[in-house]
Amino acid sequence: MEFILDTVDLEEIKDGIDHMPISGVTSNPSIVKKTSPEDFFGHMRKIREIIGKDRSLHIQVISLEADTIVEEAHRILKEIDDQVYIKVPVSYEGLKAIKMLKAEGIHVTATAVYDLMQAYFALAAGADYIAPYVNRIGNLGSDPMELIGNLQDRIDDDGYDCKIVAASFKGVEQIKNAFNYGAEAVTAPYAVLKQVFANPNIDKAVTDFNQDWYSVYGEGKGIC
Ligand code: E4P
Repeated sequence: MEFILDTVDLEEIKDGIDHMPISGVTSNPSIVKKTSPEDFFGHMRKIREIIGKDRSLHIQVISLEADTIVEEAHRILKEIDDQVYIKVPVSYEGLKAIKMLKAEGIHVTATAVYDLMQAYFALAAGADYIAPYVNRIGNLGSDPMELIGNLQDRIDDDGYDCKIVAASFKGVEQIKNAFNYGAEAVTAPYAVLKQVFANPNIDKAVTDFNQDWYSVYGEGKGIC
């Protein structure tokens, strides 16, 4: 099970990895826009410094043609390091680029997945991660969990070395469902992951426990 942060905000990343078992960081151009770092590669290098080499860093390409997607991938790897996962939208050209990148042994995260056939193509092309867009698929009237379940069955049955990294989350329930239907990883905004702890019952339970403790040992007395 992997929790990945879908943000390039350095404070969110620091706080997220301090508190939660975070295994990586993803982004896309719209997420980058929220922070709008002047020096894109410098900012990505800062993220790498914060998360270290043991966590995965996924960076998305911009180009629409396979050849230039591959050029962008080479630039990203040169500017950051060769462990970066290149996020490639599974368009027709993107699929070609995934095949080209995998032929070079480059890590690939296939993204912008709305349909099971897109996912199957990315799987057969050798993608390391495949990112179905849960919230967006639901908004279009389809069932993202059916896609995730079918894709995970195919990965298991055929023995592919590929992980589903479910993406596009607006709430915690969607994340739980994605895991329950077989996704091995989820990438979600920091605020959505933190929503888990916004449950007032957690604070009430802790307050009640402490009141009982203080009633025995004195107000404000800790264990140490
Ligand atoms: C992953 O990085 C995806 O690009 C991202 O989760 C999409 O999320 P959105 O649907 O909220 O834009």
